[in-house]
Amino acid sequence: MNSSSTPSAPRTQWDPKTLIVAGGRPAHAVDAPVNFPVTFTSTYHSQGVAAADERVYARFSNPTWDPFEEVLGQLEVATLPALVFSSGMAAIAAALSLVPAGGVMVMPKHSYNGSLALTSELEAAGRLVVRPVDIADTDEVIAALEGAHVLWVESPTNPMLEVADLPVLLSETKARGILSIVDNTFATPLLQQPLTHGADVVVHSVTKYLSGHSDVIMGAIVTSDEKLHGAVHGYRTLHGAIASPMDTFLALRGVRTMSVRLERSQNNSQILAQRLIEHPNVQGVRYPGLENDPGHQRAAGLMGSFGSVIAFQAGTSTDDADKVIAAFKLITGATSLGGVETLAERRARHASEPASVPENLIRLSVGIEEVEDLWTDLKQALDQL
Ligand SMILES: Cc1ncc(COP(=O)(O)O)c(C=O)c1O
Repeated sequence: MNSSSTPSAPRTQWDPKTLIVAGGRPAHAVDAPVNFPVTFTSTYHSQGVAAADERVYARFSNPTWDPFEEVLGQLEVATLPALVFSSGMAAIAAALSLVPAGGVMVMPKHSYNGSLALTSELEAAGRLVVRPVDIADTDEVIAALEGAHVLWVESPTNPMLEVADLPVLLSETKARGILSIVDNTFATPLLQQPLTHGADVVVHSVTKYLSGHSDVIMGAIVTSDEKLHGAVHGYRTLHGAIASPMDTFLALRGVRTMSVRLERSQNNSQILAQRLIEHPNVQGVRYPGLENDPGHQRAAGLMGSFGSVIAFQAGTSTDDADKVIAAFKLITGATSLGGVETLAERRARHASEPASVPENLIRLSVGIEEVEDLWTDLKQALDQL
């Protein structure tokens, strides 16, 4: 790393809400910019044999990655910087490269459908064996760990919002020498830091809450293990799914406001979830913030707050759910989540979604709009059924 791009020294004493604002900035000095510039280059000046810390080529390293990687590493309480990728799926593919050949991987049956599709493709090719579990059922997961090599966790899960008992599961994997990988996209490192519970690797779709504005596709991996970090870094360099400098700049710009965005979208979610349960055209609502939600106690203990994704069943059929989404005037019918704007999607429209996800389940990613406007829109759409 050259000195002109060295981010400010780690400030581990800062609260995470301060770290996202003040971390990854140039050192305080007269006339120093308050943000690092975006470095558009494919290569770097060099003089013969490369020194160990030389950047060499922009597939290996880019100064624009450094401040984001530093901030995300510190947010996840890692001893090493994060490693950014061109998408969450690229980060997931890199994490899956850590599974030993033919290894058995225990995985939530309601994981993100892209993760399920990729692992079933790898399974069909003989690369690994997937053992699907209900990740909220701790006894079932522990039983499935027998003879397994890797535990993949998503919590809360996408889109069913099941909550895993991370401390118990990760102490089991540690005791048995099983590699643990946690997709922390839904919780964000502001609500949950899996490495502190013993996870080996954390994966993020930076596309969602971290960047927060639905204008970037990016992913990241975090680990404190030097060997795993080296392996993932090597994978990124050779497979080449690197983050663009402009996207990384936007992601750092986005992460600065993550705590205020999340605070507001979580408040909105709590209010909307409570009103949704009472609407006659809603069959069931999953939101860990609801007191009678199966994940409530666990999420309260682990995350302190409950995120801003709600899953609810609209009416009784596929058609009903599609009608509700088509009737929205403010809420956008679109896939994805974690942005400032509220998005709604009937998840079962994707062929790769597990059959146990109800056909009329709508995943609502709640944004930061005025909550009464959101409720007016939800209510008028549901009232039409
Ligand atoms: C939990 C989770 N992990 C990973 C991904 C994949 O991320 P990306 O779309 O950035 O490739 C997603 C995308 O929706 C997701 O929801």
